[in-house]
Amino acid sequence: MKNLYTLNRYIKKYTHLLLIGSIFILISNIFALYPAEYVKESFDTIENSLKKDNPNIKYELFVFGTLILFFALLKGIFMFFMRQTIIVMSRKIEFDLKNDIYKKYQFLNLFFYKKNNTGDLMNRITEDVSRVRMYLGPAIMYAINLIFLFSLVIWRMTSISPTLTTYVLIPLPILAITVYFVSHHINKNSEKVQIQLSNLTSISQESYSAINIIKTFQNEDNSYKMFFKSCKEYMQRQLKLVSIEAWFFPLIIFLIGISTITTIYIGGIESMKIGSNVTTGTIAEFIIYVNMLTWPVASVGWVTSIIQRAEASMQRINDFKKNNNIIPNTNLIKVKTIKDIKFENVSFKYKDTNIQALKNINFQIKKGKTLGVFGKTGSGKSTIANLICRLYDCDSGKILVNNNNIMDIKLSGIRSKIGYVQQDSFLFSGNIAENIAFGKDQLLYEKVYKCAETSSIHEEILSFQNKYFTLIGERGVQLSGGQKQRISIARAIYTDPEIFIFDDCLSAIDADQENKILKNIKNQTQDTSTVIISHRTSSIQHADEIIVLEKGSISCRGTHKELMESENFYSYMHKEQTKKNNLYL
Ligand SMILES: Nc1ncnc2c1ncn2[C@@H]1O[C@H](COP(=O)(O)OP(=O)(O)O)[C@@H](O)[C@H]1O
Ligand SMILES: [Mg+2]
Repeated sequence: MKNLYTLNRYIKKYTHLLLIGSIFILISNIFALYPAEYVKESFDTIENSLKKDNPNIKYELFVFGTLILFFALLKGIFMFFMRQTIIVMSRKIEFDLKNDIYKKYQFLNLFFYKKNNTGDLMNRITEDVSRVRMYLGPAIMYAINLIFLFSLVIWRMTSISPTLTTYVLIPLPILAITVYFVSHHINKNSEKVQIQLSNLTSISQESYSAINIIKTFQNEDNSYKMFFKSCKEYMQRQLKLVSIEAWFFPLIIFLIGISTITTIYIGGIESMKIGSNVTTGTIAEFIIYVNMLTWPVASVGWVTSIIQRAEASMQRINDFKKNNNIIPNTNLIKVKTIKDIKFENVSFKYKDTNIQALKNINFQIKKGKTLGVFGKTGSGKSTIANLICRLYDCDSGKILVNNNNIMDIKLSGIRSKIGYVQQDSFLFSGNIAENIAFGKDQLLYEKVYKCAETSSIHEEILSFQNKYFTLIGERGVQLSGGQKQRISIARAIYTDPEIFIFDDCLSAIDADQENKILKNIKNQTQDTSTVIISHRTSSIQHADEIIVLEKGSISCRGTHKELMESENFYSYMHKEQTKKNNLYL
């Protein structure tokens, strides 16, 4: 229960609902007692009329019948209110909890995301939260209901016949324990079903996404076999679950039957004793009480297993909430504009893989200037971009922004001034205009068109049937690599950044178009600085300074002209790349 205590904070917020709900439960239980009493009265009236003629019997029975209906109706109304308060409370807490978890997800750093797979992360917010909700809603409601009902019914029963009460209650603990074991078994097996279902879902999801590859490799049969196997396993697990569930009702009905027989038998013996107040009506009343108690008692077992599952889920949620993989954002120096960014002896190692991605890196990005970062794949280029945006923090050395340590500057202040176009940019499902305006709260169409013009994609968007309203993503248009890259560039331009970082994002665009885009950007915003990361010399040859990365270290630097004057990796690659291009001409 330790973990479930953390929910108190949420419950406190809705204490009024819990209190009002409890009052409704109490009232509905009080009304539930009356019908049993009137059944007793009806039975006794019938019995007495058999002994002595009663001309009013029809009228009396009609009155009892009406009263029974009336109280049953009142009980029903308050049961409705009880669900409307307690279940509503559980749904509201579920909403808060989901939002809290999602908010936390947004602040965790990339190491966290690498350690946990997407399925697990999704489970926290869906499965785990809904199990906790089962505790907050049905479990709490049934527990309170049981307490009130039990107290009222037992009080009523003992006031009539303590002996009969004792005998009648004997089978109930057995019922609670049996239900606990059966529902524990059901839960365990339904978890197995769930696991298999998510396996089945991911198999089918993967095969839909990779349908092109499956077809070209003629892998349809294998793919089907895999699905079949997984589906068969799913069916077998379901069948096992069905066979356990099939035990549930017969067992309960059997135990209720035993209680009823005990009531009639012991009640019969008691009624025959001289001076006893047990009548035929009492036996009927007790049978109704037994029936009223069986479901709530059965729910003890069910509620216990819900609480156990909720406790395990809450533990996972709490462990996740304790996670401190967060980029610190404490000392909040605000920067109005970024004048320059300096790397001083910066080194960085990816802790999870132990790869030393950068070693003693020094460079400066000056306002309005262009820095080219050149190197082979894996040389550490993207890592530099990640460090500038503080997706990671460096291990040693310093990154200075206007001579302040980047760690001391408000995170949002830095990121909002950087237009980072990543290597594999992701476009969200939604239309093109929404994707371009992603970085700002407002969608201004004129601005969207202008950004698309700057990134040389406007004409192409207009050629689509729905123009800027064309949907991207699963059910939308299939964009080419180059189109995706240019929309991503437009998305970065839309945020009016002070620094652009283009991480190999011009690779699917031909050199002419690439130069046009870069020129457009320069013409529009004189003061913006640009970092162009590329493995193509043609992309960066006009940069004010080029740094050449080899295995995480800078092997040489200078302008294109300076670098071409000596023998180095850059000049070698430039000659190789231009030679290749010439071959195609
Ligand atoms: N998220 C990551 N986790 C662990 N290692 C990484 C990660 N990203 C890159 N690396 C490793 O760090 C090195 C530098 O990678 P990266 O900066 O992406 O190079 P580039 O952009 O030049 O291709 C590579 O050896 C790569 O395998
Ligand atoms: Mg890269």
